[in-house]
Amino acid sequence: MVGCWKRFLSSRHSSEVSGVSRVLEADAAAIREAAAILRRGGLVAFPTETVYGLGADAENETAMRALFAAKGRPADHPVIVHLAEAAQVDDFAAEVPAAAQKLVAAFWPGPMTLVLRRSGRISDLVTGGLQTVGLRVPGHPVAHALLKEFGGPIAAPSANRFGRVSCMRAEHVAEELGDRVDLVLDGGECDVGIESTIIDVSCERPAILRPGAVTAEEVAAVLKAPVASASSFSPRVPGSLASHYAPEARVELVAEADLLSRARQLQSGEEKVAVIGRVVTGEADRGIVLLAAPEGDEGLAHSLYGLLRRADELGCDVVVTATPSEQGLGLAIADRLRRAAGPRR
Ligand code: TXA
Ligand code: MG
Repeated sequence: MVGCWKRFLSSRHSSEVSGVSRVLEADAAAIREAAAILRRGGLVAFPTETVYGLGADAENETAMRALFAAKGRPADHPVIVHLAEAAQVDDFAAEVPAAAQKLVAAFWPGPMTLVLRRSGRISDLVTGGLQTVGLRVPGHPVAHALLKEFGGPIAAPSANRFGRVSCMRAEHVAEELGDRVDLVLDGGECDVGIESTIIDVSCERPAILRPGAVTAEEVAAVLKAPVASASSFSPRVPGSLASHYAPEARVELVAEADLLSRARQLQSGEEKVAVIGRVVTGEADRGIVLLAAPEGDEGLAHSLYGLLRRADELGCDVVVTATPSEQGLGLAIADRLRRAAGPRR
């Protein structure tokens, strides 16, 4: 069966990205073709439950170099290796400590990446020279089917250009990457909307390097111990750079109550201003673009990157928004917003 063909012109970013992506609905034939492309050393974007990933054969050096080039990512930033089954972790990690085993049992397949000491099958190209590797077994049926069909480990950073917001729809991937990707598997919108929780279990005391949908509270409950949090970030984690996950518009964080007053202040200075907020409803206010965020952290995580992209599409210069309270998933949302608002390189 031949999948449905769709083409998307790379619009706004045409100066940086050329060509069009080939996008196929992720049916069985498309997944077989995607696996064949990976075997040939090509690049395939695919949905996971968090965000779309840009995949390459983790054991093919040429493919790994092409992956870094397509993303515009510095060579010393490690990528996550995706596996079909938790049982494969022993092939790619030198050891799986008790804490890691508990987390695997509790959260895989799912939106969690474990950093473990790497085995001999993982190259420096994947880890940027680190002796550890990030491993993840995604729960999305398309990701799982692709991993099964391919059979080996798929290295996959988020399918966006380096430093920008991740993609949760196939058309966003096409806009971001154009013909830098050989095939985009369209599996609809990702569920979670922000990237996986990364937990370093390679050292004595497990630490959350990047908060996500598997929350610090859930991790602590499984480990029956408090877990160190993102403050102990390794500088090698791109998500830990001050500015990351950033749209083209500048992002300003203010208290929820001050959203509109700050937006009006900025608007008077001739900038095109967008407000992303849970309380902003009704008509555009003096030309201010009002982007309503859903109530509840799950809804906000799911729509966050789409709303930031929308502000860019509308040509906004600045986005004014507020961080949620930093519990559960709110911590991950606040983390991404702070990085989007961080100083630009
Ligand atoms: O949800 C996700 O994690 C998505 C989907 C596609 O799986 N992937 C993703 O990949 O967000 P990426 O490359 O955009 O972010 C992965 C993060 C980076 O910050 C990277 O530095 C970190 O994982 N990472 C990978 N291996 C690591 C390691 N050995 N030690 C510390 N951090 C590591
Ligand atoms: Mg990323």
